[in-house]
Amino acid sequence: MDDLLHLAQRMMLRAHAPYSKFHVGAALRAEDGSIHGGCNVENAAYPQGLCAEAGAISALVAAGHKRILECVVVGPGPEVITPCGGCRQKLREFAGDEVQVHLCGPDGLHRTVTLGQLLPMSFGPQHFA
Ligand code: THU
Repeated sequence: MDDLLHLAQRMMLRAHAPYSKFHVGAALRAEDGSIHGGCNVENAAYPQGLCAEAGAISALVAAGHKRILECVVVGPGPEVITPCGGCRQKLREFAGDEVQVHLCGPDGLHRTVTLGQLLPMSFGPQHFA
């Protein structure tokens, strides 16, 4: 996961977070091994801001992919940062319960959990199968 961590750390440096000052980076591995990153992009109209995970998902899909195999999220501090509820659901669209989500800080890995742990009994694409 080192490649994902490095990309997410680079993404965090590009965050546009002048309101919260909370810079976040995310990186995802697609089914072909390619990696895609995003950062949070805030807005003067606060609810219009985008999370880092949402940006990374958009980059992955825009590159032609539909499966997420692994995820890294990097926050700015020593505490463990976890994806917000909306981003858990956004990840679920392209990732199964077993997918690992690595929760990191600038110093590296803090904790690894699965998407199933973050979003148990999720509603997802399988409900439309
Ligand atoms: N944020 C993310 O980008 N990802 C997360 O996992 C948690 C929170 C952003 C949203 C907002 O720009 C800032 O962090 C503070 O909530």
